[in-house]
Amino acid sequence: MKKRLTLSLNQELSKKLLKTKIDVLVVGVSEGRTLNSAAEKVDKATQGSIKKLIKRGEFESKVGQTAYIATNDGTSAERIFLIGCGKPMKGLSSEDLDKIAMSVTTCLTTKKSSTGIVSLPSMKHESKENTDETLLQKIGTAVESKAYTYDAKLNKKNKKINYLKKVSIVIDSRQSVAKLRKGLKTGQVIGQGMNVAKDLANLPGNVCTPSYLATSSRSAANKYQKLSCRVYGEKEMKKMGMDCLLSVGNGSAQESKLISMNYQGGKKGDKPYAIVGKGITFDTGGISLKPPPTMDEMKFDMCGAASVIATMQVVSELKLPINIVGVVASAENMPGSKATKPGDVVRTMSGKTVEILNTDAEGRLVLADALTYVERFEPRSVVDIATLTGAVIMALGYSTSGLMSNNDKLAEELLEAGRKASDRAWQLPLWDVYQKDLDSNFADIANIGGRAGTITAACFLSRFAEKYPWAHLDVAGTASYKGAAKGGSGRPVPLLSQYLIDKS
Ligand code: BES
Ligand code: MN
Ligand code: ZN
Repeated sequence: MKKRLTLSLNQELSKKLLKTKIDVLVVGVSEGRTLNSAAEKVDKATQGSIKKLIKRGEFESKVGQTAYIATNDGTSAERIFLIGCGKPMKGLSSEDLDKIAMSVTTCLTTKKSSTGIVSLPSMKHESKENTDETLLQKIGTAVESKAYTYDAKLNKKNKKINYLKKVSIVIDSRQSVAKLRKGLKTGQVIGQGMNVAKDLANLPGNVCTPSYLATSSRSAANKYQKLSCRVYGEKEMKKMGMDCLLSVGNGSAQESKLISMNYQGGKKGDKPYAIVGKGITFDTGGISLKPPPTMDEMKFDMCGAASVIATMQVVSELKLPINIVGVVASAENMPGSKATKPGDVVRTMSGKTVEILNTDAEGRLVLADALTYVERFEPRSVVDIATLTGAVIMALGYSTSGLMSNNDKLAEELLEAGRKASDRAWQLPLWDVYQKDLDSNFADIANIGGRAGTITAACFLSRFAEKYPWAHLDVAGTASYKGAAKGGSGRPVPLLSQYLIDKS
C-alpha cells in the first residue's frame, strides 16, 4: 500500500503550537465553553480574533462549522482554520464525529497545504463505542483517503500533485497516548486500503481485466508474509464444476479468474472469516446489452473485488490475529457469438441449475459459484460484496449500501461496523415471500424475477449460501462517485475492515 502521508499524534505540540512552521493550523473549539489552552494561545496571537468571531455570532462552534482566521508574522502557520466541535456537555454522536473528521480534512486540503497541525479540545461522547480513539480513527481514514490522487495512467504533464505530506495531531484527551495512536494508525491504514480499492476501480477496463486483478492480488500477497494467493483459470474452474461463473465470460476474449487469498493471522486450525467480491471488470450486459449512456461506469463493476483485495491488505498491515479468506470471482461480461443467451441453462458448482433469463444479471452468476467454493473453508461467516443492482440506488441512494443476510447477528455486527467506520449500510428484508419470484419452468432457479430487484438478487445468492452465516452488501450506489467526482470511493473497505477488527 502506498504511503503518501505522514500522520502522527504529538501531544507535546500544544506547547509549541505557534512556534512550528507549518502551512495550516486547524483549531477545534467547543460550543459555550472557555477556549482550551491551545485555542487561547491562537486567540492571543491573532489579536483576539477567535473570541471576536464568537462574540459577533459568526462562529458558534457547532459541529461541522468552519471559519478562517487571518494570520500574521507571529503565528508561524500560513493559514489558520477554526472547526466547531459541538457542545462539550451534550455528548457527540457517531455522525458528529464524522462531521468533525470531515471539517478537519477539508481545512487540511482546501488550499495547497503540505504540512499541518490539528489541535482538538476535550470532548464528551454520547456512547461507549465513541471515544477520542474512534474520532482519531475517523480522522485518519478521512485525511488519508482525501489525499488520494489517481495518477496511474495519466501522462506526466497532466499529473496531479498530491499536496498534503505531513500532519500532526494534538488532542486534550484522558485516553492513553497508546490508544489514541492506535486509533489514528488504524484509521490511516483503512484510508490507505480505500486508496488501493480506488486505484483498481479507476483503471480502465482494457487495463484492469480479470488477469490484472489476479496479478495485483498475487503481488499484494508477496508483500505480506501471512498473506498468500491462489488463482484458478478457466480450465481449473471447469474441473471444479463452475459452469455458472464461466458462462459470464463466454463472450469475452479475457480469461475468467477465481482468486483465492488467504490471510493466516490466527492459529492454524482456527476457522476463517470469508469475504467474497464481484469482479466483473466490465459489464456490457452481454446479449442483454445495456444502453450506451454511462456504460463507461460499468468499469466500476469490479468494486466488490477491489474492496476484498484492499481489505486483505488492510488486515495484513494491521496484523489482525484471525484467519481470513478473500475470494474474487472475476470475468468480463461481453456479447459475442460464444456469449451466453437469454434462456440458456447452466449448472452451478452446487449442482443447482440456473435459467439465465437476462445476461445482464451476471454478478449473481459469478458469485453463486464463488459462494459454493468458500464452503471448503468452513467459514465462521461469509460476506459478499457486489455492485449488484441498479435497484439499490432507487432504494437507498448513493450514500448507503444495501445489506441482506440469513443471520440477524451477523447483519447487526456489519451495521455496527459501518456506523463506527463511517461507511453505513442499511438492512433490507430477505423474507421467503420474495423467493418464489425466482421460480423457473426450465431450471431449479431463474436469474431474475419480481419487482424488488435488490432483494431478489440477494434471494438468488442465498440459495448458494445455505451452509454458513452469510451477508450480502449491495454497493452499486456507494462504491463509486458519479458526475464531476467520477471515480472509485474506496467503499466498503472501512466497513469490512472494522468488522474484522471487531472480530479480532
Ligand atoms: N452491474 C450491474 C448493476 C449496477 C447498475 C451497478 C448501476 C452500478 C450501477 C448489474 O450487473 C446489473 O446489470 N444489474 C441489473 C439486474 C437486472 C438485469 C435484473 C440491473 O440492476 O439493472
Ligand atoms: Mn449486469
Ligand atoms: Zn454487473
